[in-house]
This record gives sequence, structure tokens and C-alpha cells, in this order.
Amino acid sequence: MCGIVGYIGSKEAYPVLIKGLHRLEYRGYDSSGVAMISDEGKLNIYKAKGKVAALEHFAESKDRSGTVGIAHTRWATHGEPNDTNAHPHASQSGDLAIVHNGTIENYTVVKKALEQHGYAFRSETDTEVVVQLIDYIRTDTGCTLFEAVREACHQIVGAYAIAVIDRRNPNQIVVARKSSPLVIGVGDGEYFIASDATPIVEYTNRVVYLNDDEIAVINRGESLHVFNMDNKESKVNIQKLRMSISELEKGGYPHFMLKEIFEQPRTLRDCIRGRVSADGKHVVLSGVLDNKERFLDAHRILIVACGTSWHAALIGKHLFEDMCRIPVEVEYASEFRYRNPVVSDKDVLIAMSQSGETADTLAALELAKEQGAFVFGICNVIGSSIPRATDSGCYIHVGPEIGVASTKAFTGQVTVLAMMALMLGRMKGTIADEAFERVTRDLHRLPELLQEVLELDTRVKDLSKIFTYAKNFLYLGRGYNYPAALEGALKLKEISYIHAEGCPAAEMKHGTIALIDDDMPTVVIAPRDKIYDKTVSNIQQIKARNGRIIALVTRGDEVAAKIADYVIEIPEVCECLSPILTSVPLQLLAYYVAVNKGRNVDQPRNLAKSVTVE
Ligand code: F6R
Repeated sequence: MCGIVGYIGSKEAYPVLIKGLHRLEYRGYDSSGVAMISDEGKLNIYKAKGKVAALEHFAESKDRSGTVGIAHTRWATHGEPNDTNAHPHASQSGDLAIVHNGTIENYTVVKKALEQHGYAFRSETDTEVVVQLIDYIRTDTGCTLFEAVREACHQIVGAYAIAVIDRRNPNQIVVARKSSPLVIGVGDGEYFIASDATPIVEYTNRVVYLNDDEIAVINRGESLHVFNMDNKESKVNIQKLRMSISELEKGGYPHFMLKEIFEQPRTLRDCIRGRVSADGKHVVLSGVLDNKERFLDAHRILIVACGTSWHAALIGKHLFEDMCRIPVEVEYASEFRYRNPVVSDKDVLIAMSQSGETADTLAALELAKEQGAFVFGICNVIGSSIPRATDSGCYIHVGPEIGVASTKAFTGQVTVLAMMALMLGRMKGTIADEAFERVTRDLHRLPELLQEVLELDTRVKDLSKIFTYAKNFLYLGRGYNYPAALEGALKLKEISYIHAEGCPAAEMKHGTIALIDDDMPTVVIAPRDKIYDKTVSNIQQIKARNGRIIALVTRGDEVAAKIADYVIEIPEVCECLSPILTSVPLQLLAYYVAVNKGRNVDQPRNLAKSVTVE
């Protein structure tokens, strides 16, 4: 949800800012802009509606000089996506420029007060209010930029990561954060600022993650100073970044999404590395081991998440209940946080999030923490807000996910949940040794099984051509594969814009079956599991109504495969791990349908990768 970038050093700022914006474009692509203090001391601001490429085109013939600058790529919240509402925003005095990721809740009140002091506003954004407020405080009191930003932070309510520059001092950038991420890269005599580490990694591997309610003053050529809102200087904690540039590039694939689908054998290998033994005897996650009492004493596990992560969480419910006999509730974080949920210190709350920044998930975990629950994070982005707010957790280690539609994070999340359930089940004695070893051995084989699934690529691509022009799709599954059906439907919707609905296969006859006709393709996930026969009956019910069926079956299937119109065969695997395999052909199906329709697969309309607004 919006990305911010900044640079100060001896390089030309513009190329660094533009490259950074490209890296952060997944966070929003309604408009983008840059502000630089030129070699002549002018504050140049260039902005354009649409993607970063539009900005580059616009700025082509302009003065792009300067070694200090800030930039922004926007996912619109206040005000429609246009040039005026694009960031950076300048103060009325023309001296200050700001970029902002987040939302300011009391902006109308502040705006009214500023209007009474003669401020006029050009845009409809909440952000412009912040820069005018800083300008007002500065002019009114004669204080420094840092002091004005700090005072403004006391007056605004909401979520923000901001970066501010002042034309009169090209040697400084001031940044602040509350509930929106901000990372500072520490180079050799230069600093980089970004919403996440991806724009920074090619310049330095030394980073500082700013905490909530902190302000950093970055002076050219000097060391970095970080303060809290009461002006107390904090220790600067420089951390080493574990990320490589190749992970951020397409590596020969036409889209990040396809690259990320194909990466899954490797990403799952990284996810289980050092955690699962090949002989099936051991599973170790240090975050669980270090807190085993909290888990073993838990009366209940709550999992909060959004979107794809919520679908993974539903599979977690099956895993924990099956293997550990602990009751599990899965909640949309956005619903949980605004209910009056009953939470106690006997609960373990798992916050699941690829980005580690989803605002609703963060708020839900804070709520549960206040009520005494032990809070555990399952995230991908290292150093992001959720892992820092939890009591403990474990990373899924699947590397940066750039495509807006989540793929490898989903399979990584389910894999981590399976490892957790196995570990806890063994500690509690609720899983038999034979079952433990069988599942663990299959976990260890997942990378090679996924490699086999990816060989279905051409088959799925061919099928996609048959269904590209369908107006609606139905996805059915049962048990472990009901969440996989929901996930398959979400993938198709979000990147192809075809309406799709996921439904428990047996539930279909209670209403959804009315939709079935020969125009409505149904994808049925029917691996050979303990309810296979029941799923076959559901397939027959669809066939009896002239529905067209694509069935995902276990290799060698002869029953479902005979009834369905088209068949995708996946390798045999333990039932509890089967959604990891069945989800992959569905990712490919969504991908190819979207490509056939000419959609922007990596940056679908209206979406952003990291949802830091409510
Ligand atoms: C769908 C998708 C979203 C995210 C959701 C939660 O492909 O990516 O539904 O899963 O916005 O994001 P995280 O996992 O970052 O909390």
C-alpha cells in the first residue's frame, strides 16, 4: 500500500529513486512521483498518474540533477489517482516535500485549522495536510525540520511512514514511522530509505528497521540519529540483510508470478531446510521449541490472517486439530479486531502474513496480546512489523514474493503449519509414530513432488485456452482441499477478473448448484483421500446438470477421471499435504487464463501487495 524511497549521498539521486520505485511498484501503482533538490538548489517535483514508466517518460526532458531526493508509488486511499493527488506533496511555501505511506485519520480537523492560518490545499489527500502542518510549525516557531516533524507527529493520528526534505537544507532527510514500515540502508557515506529492503539490497546489506514512534535524522556524510517522540536518542541497531538481487528479478520469466510458481520446489526446500529430517524422525522449529510450554498449555489456537494467508490458516485448523487435538479457530483479522473477542492467557494466537505488514492482522495480534494471549507470527518478510510485534514466531523463508497474487507464500505457510502440527502432536502424544514419520517423509519429498506437478504446465496452459472466455467459475473441494478451492478461486478472480467462487463440494447442493449449466466450468479437487467417494458423487451431481468439469485427481485415478471432462493428475502424497500440490495447477490455471485475456498479471487492477490500510 504505497511505497516510499529516499536517497542522500554522493550519487545522482534520480536513478536510485526510479529503480527503487520499480522495486516497490508491487505496493501500489496508481501514480508515482519524485522530489529532488537540484544542483542549483531548486526543489523539483515530478509526478504522473499510472505506473513508474509514465513518470520516467514525464521526467525525461526535465532537470533531474541532485544528490538528495524522495519518491513514492501510490495505492490511492484519499483522492482519486491523478497527477495532483500523486506524491510527493510540497508545502505552500515551496520549501518542503513529503512522501507518505499510511493514512491520517484526523486530517480533516488539522486541515480546517491550517486553512484558518491561510493554508490552501491543492490535492484531496491526507498527506498534503502533514506537509503543510510541518511547514506551519516550522514557520511559526522557527524550529528545525526535525523538531517540526516531531511536533507534527504528536498532532496527527493514524498510520504513517514519512520522509521529508527541505530545499533550504539539501544535506538532510527526516523520516518518521508509526504502524507503516520504514527501512534505512546504511551505505558508505550514503543512506537509502525505503518501505522495505528491496530497493536497498543492491547498494548495501546494512539496514536499520525504524520502530514505531521513532524519527530518524539523516545528515549527508554523518552518522544516523534515531529519536523517540519524546526526543530521547535511541541506539541505532544496524542489521545484516539476507537477500540477493537475483531474488528480485524475473530471471527470464515473463512475469514474477510465473517465476514464483516455478520457484516452489526450491522455496519449499528452503522452508524445510534444517527443520525436517529425511528419515522422517525429526521436525524442529526453534520458535515452537523455545515456547513449547505455551503451546502445550494452550486451550485453544486462534489464527488471524487475510486473503490467501487466511486460506492457508484454514488448512492449519485441519492440521492442528488432526494431529494435536487442540481446538482451532480461524478468523479474518479485520473481523476479529472489531469484534469483542473472548481471548485469555490460555490462548495462542497465530498471526499469519506473507508481508508481515497487513494492518488488520497487526491490529488483531495487538488486541490478543493485550488480553494475555501468547502471540506467534508466521511471516515471510524478515524484520517486518508483525514478526517484531509477536512474542515469537517462525519465518517461511520462501524469499521475496513480488507478484501481487500470492503463490509461493501460500505453499510455504501450509508447510510451516504442517511442521508445527507435527512437532506439537509429537510433544502432546496425539500423533502415532507411524503417522508422524509418514507425513514427515512426505514433507521432505515435497520439493521433488512439486517439480513433478510443474511438469503439468503445458497441460494446464492448453486447458486455459478452453476456458479463457468463461464468465464464472466454480471451485469445489472437501476437507483439506476446501481451502485449496477457495484459494484457486481467489487466484483466478484477482488476476483474470473472472468471477469465481470456492465452495465445499458437499455444500454446493444447498444453493450454489443452481448456477451450474454448460457455461459454468467447475474445478473439482478430488485427490484420493478418505472422502474421495463422496467427492465423486458431487462430480456426478454436476455432470447430471451438464456442467463442465476439470478434475484434479491423484495419478492413476480411474473413477473421477472418467466422469470429468478434463483431468489434471497430481502425484500421490499424504492427505494433509495434498493442498500444497493441488494449489499449484490452480495457480497455473489462473496465470494462463489471465495471460490469455491480456491482463497485467503481476499488477492486477485495484490491488496492492502489502495492505497497510484498514
Ligand atoms: C492474494 C493475496 C492477498 C494476501 C492478503 C494478506 O493473492 O496476496 O489476499 O494474501 O492481502 O497479505 P499478507 O499475507 O501479506 O498479510
